[in-house]
Amino acid sequence: KYKMILDLDTGVDDALALAYALATPECDLIGVVASFGNIVPEEAAQNTLNLLEMLGHPEVPVFIGATHSSHTDHFEVMPISQTIHGKNGIGEVEVPTAKRKIESQNGIDFYIEAAHKYQGQLLIVPTGPLTNLAAAIEKDPEIIDLIGHVTLMGGTLTIPGNVNPVTEANINQDPPAADKVLRSKLPLTMVGLDVTLRTLLTKKETQEWREIGTTSAIKYADIVDYYINAYKITSPHLHGCGLHDPLAVAAAVDPSLLQTIYLNMKVDTEGAYAGRTIGDEKRLNEPATTTQVAVNVDVPRFLEMFMTKLSAFFKE
Ligand code: BDR
Ligand code: CA
Repeated sequence: KYKMILDLDTGVDDALALAYALATPECDLIGVVASFGNIVPEEAAQNTLNLLEMLGHPEVPVFIGATHSSHTDHFEVMPISQTIHGKNGIGEVEVPTAKRKIESQNGIDFYIEAAHKYQGQLLIVPTGPLTNLAAAIEKDPEIIDLIGHVTLMGGTLTIPGNVNPVTEANINQDPPAADKVLRSKLPLTMVGLDVTLRTLLTKKETQEWREIGTTSAIKYADIVDYYINAYKITSPHLHGCGLHDPLAVAAAVDPSLLQTIYLNMKVDTEGAYAGRTIGDEKRLNEPATTTQVAVNVDVPRFLEMFMTKLSAFFKE
């Protein structure tokens, strides 16, 4: 059975990724590393603890990793993050405070310990900036050969970014860390905007949750409705909200959802193209064996799985 670590900047779609992982019995969620990104890391961690308790899984430990990106000395939430995810990260919805506290071990050390313990069985799904994973492989490069697979939400190859024409939000937060991860020999799949913006959720689906009537179903409907309303303002051309982060979890468990290409990738770290995820021209003629980029997704199959799993889970 696979062991999974999520690295979340919890975040509305991160909250969906968390629920999706818990609703997937094929893998054990052994811990969550909380990141800065949509909000500050302490709040990402607290949101995660609160959601875990509400969802009936208070046993999952939550760690904090890096408190800011590798190329700055502090972190500030971007106004656009507050518009999309709300000031508290989860659509201004109140969830009761969990009894469990944040672990004292640093998230980066948790990564290293888990990689050695579970070896090829460990799946890592980062759905925020890649600062923690980059720091872990820098601190202990041996884990590059021990980690089973990394399926990350971030970047874009075939369409423009969502922060500016060249960059996606997670990569934009820490381009040097993303570059380190993408250029490493980690077995990795990049699940970028190319595919995540094809998987959209609407109020028709959140209404189905509302009708289930359990606390978790109603809270999740409220949280996601906030995000859907924000998408109407920021992305009026889309007919719903992007299921970015849960798609990465689903693809980690079932890679057949995606069509991918093998490509040696890099991230531009400075100048006008900072944060751009693109093929590395210097390694174009080296065999690409470890890095895959998703270019297509089986949308109906994913949406059906997503709703079936989450609706059943919210009924429990
Ligand atoms: C990504 O950015 C964050 O705002 C979302 O949670 C998602 O991980 C999409 O670009
Ligand atoms: Ca996220």
